[in-house]
Amino acid sequence: MMRSPIVAGNWKMNKTVEEAVEFVNQIKNHLPNPDVQETVLAAPTIALVPMVKAAAGTPLKIAAENCYYQDAGAFTGETSPTTLYSAGIHHVILGHSERRKLFNETDHLINLKVHAALDAGLCPIVCCDETMGRRVAGKKVHWVVSRILADLKDLKPENVDKVTIAYEPSWAIGTGESMDPDQAEEGCYLIRQTIADMYGDTIANNVRILYGGSVNSDNINQLMASQDIDGVLAGGASLDPQSFLKLVNH
Ligand code: G3P
Repeated sequence: MMRSPIVAGNWKMNKTVEEAVEFVNQIKNHLPNPDVQETVLAAPTIALVPMVKAAAGTPLKIAAENCYYQDAGAFTGETSPTTLYSAGIHHVILGHSERRKLFNETDHLINLKVHAALDAGLCPIVCCDETMGRRVAGKKVHWVVSRILADLKDLKPENVDKVTIAYEPSWAIGTGESMDPDQAEEGCYLIRQTIADMYGDTIANNVRILYGGSVNSDNINQLMASQDIDGVLAGGASLDPQSFLKLVNH
């Protein structure tokens, strides 16, 4: 199966609800056919519902930036994956390095969230980070492999290709220092091989793997030309409508 590419934006904790809807209105008629390339935009929870409404009938898919691993109950302040799905949201970013670092999310918690998201019908975009220290120390293999083994543990084989992975080296996030495309390919290849070890070659070949970390309109083509890189997850470059459209229509 041919993996159709994804260009995704992650706004993080930016934009008012009004700005979010205005952004959707500005880009929604300029997007590629989703059979050729998917366009996904992840936004703060409060903006999701109005964005879904604004994007109705267009190829734009709205994503959450996080969710909890339980469907309902006494979990003050959390968002249920089922509630997200019922609101027309089909993707959720899980395990972003900011959530791991600032909110102490562990691989175990992320694995629980991946299961819950899939059970609710969502497609998780699971982020796999890597620090420069580990890369320099030659520990990247162990690190990336162990993240994937833990985060994708015990999935139903038929669900695995609903997961997208975003390989995001921490030192390339928000720094303007994108990773060299050969190294990015190496990381994404390693992730695919790990998934192949867990679930077999056919499934691994269907999983989309994105690169994230200072992606912009100057480096996107080279990154996406790599065999194992099926798209990008952009932060800063997704915040302005014209700059996001340049990525989408690269
Ligand atoms: O999730 C995307 C992100 O962490 C990358 O951010 O600003 O380096 O594109 P940025």
